[in-house]
Amino acid sequence: MKTVKESAVEMTEIVMPQDTNTLGTIFGGKVMQWMDIAAAICGFRHCRTAVVTASVDTLSFHYAIKTGNIVSIKASVNYTANTSMEIGVCVYAEDPLSGEKKHASSAYFTFVAVDGKGRPIAVPKVIPETKDEKRRYREAQERRKIRLQMRKKST
Ligand SMILES: CC(C)(COP(=O)(O)OP(=O)(O)OC[C@H]1O[C@@H](n2cnc3c(N)ncnc32)[C@H](O)[C@@H]1OP(=O)(O)O)[C@@H](O)C(=O)NCCC(=O)NCCS
Repeated sequence: MKTVKESAVEMTEIVMPQDTNTLGTIFGGKVMQWMDIAAAICGFRHCRTAVVTASVDTLSFHYAIKTGNIVSIKASVNYTANTSMEIGVCVYAEDPLSGEKKHASSAYFTFVAVDGKGRPIAVPKVIPETKDEKRRYREAQERRKIRLQMRKKST
């Protein structure tokens, strides 16, 4: 068993010109890459085994991150099932001069712990401690039900 804070991740990046489109705002794929990396590190810290991305849902971009912005990517374990866990990821854009911060993006990643042959193995149970962690845990259970139904339909 592990607490949420034992595996929580906060990554910091800065947006370089090569990460942006002709409007000077970041490519969605770059944000998704950072989110996937933050979520994977969180999964590794929680399980201390290899983990793979099984699915990503409710990925949204609320705010266009610009060249030169400082970007914080936060990831934490919301819920653990048997061999899978939901990791919530939030992205914030910070203006380097004013310090103003905007919530730019968020998504729910499902990661599966695997052995050396890529076979799913049990994940340690997560212990939600704070009010927010307990709320995220409850909400993640509901999302898991929907996800499992969607998986059934698509396979
Ligand atoms: C993820 C993977 C290990 C699942 O293997 P599997 O043989 O389908 O295993 P199972 O059906 O036993 O599912 C294992 C767990 O994954 C979950 N899972 C599998 N596919 C899922 C999906 N699309 N969305 C959410 N959860 C999923 C299952 O619910 C189960 O969780 P639980 O044990 O906590 O209930 C396998 O599909 C895989 O290796 N995929 C490729 C992963 C990868 O390369 N990712 C990089 C991104 S391109």
